[in-house]
Amino acid sequence: MADRTEHPFLYVVVCGAGVAAGVGRLITAAQERHWEVGVIATPVAAQGGFFDLAAVEAQTGRPVRSAWRTPADPRPFPPPDAVAVAPATFNTVNKWAAGIADTLAVATLCEAYGLGVPITALPCVAGALATHPAYRDSLTRLQGMGVRFGAPHAGGPDEFAWEQALDLLAGPPA
Ligand SMILES: Cc1cc2nc3c(=O)[nH]c(=O)nc-3n(C[C@H](O)[C@H](O)[C@H](O)COP(=O)(O)O)c2cc1C
Repeated sequence: MADRTEHPFLYVVVCGAGVAAGVGRLITAAQERHWEVGVIATPVAAQGGFFDLAAVEAQTGRPVRSAWRTPADPRPFPPPDAVAVAPATFNTVNKWAAGIADTLAVATLCEAYGLGVPITALPCVAGALATHPAYRDSLTRLQGMGVRFGAPHAGGPDEFAWEQALDLLAGPPA
């Protein structure tokens, strides 16, 4: 079993969207609010150059997880006290809602619901994609599961509202 930590442990799930390059801002803000942070990236986010893995590992003091561990390996992170998905892509939101746990990131999100921990998500989905009926259904389903969604992202990467994920965690349940 992995260690328990002094501070509550936040899983930050990072998907393959351009704004992911700024995820260090969320980690800094979370640490300032006394969260300990572990990052789980989708394979696209981790392997596609969407953010600086080495910088995030230095910031969190832990490896960025993307692939499943082998059964012999210890759990690298403690269990989560909360989960923030930022940025949340069209692809991951739809798979999460449908329960298609084909990446560690989505499997972690699917399991988090059953653990009963608070979950926030900051979607970064372009307007044309966001009109797709499957996406709208996914949002409705996840909201019904208690996921706290940030406002749809509009604007440039510098305007991505990273801290909203933490504000939503601190607020009342959805
Ligand atoms: C440069 C770049 C930026 C992207 N930005 C977004 C985005 O903002 N939102 C989104 O839903 N997909 C975006 N995509 C597409 C996703 O990377 C793609 O759908 C991928 O399958 C997502 O996988 P994931 O959800 O497992 O991370 C982008 C792709 C590229 C190459």
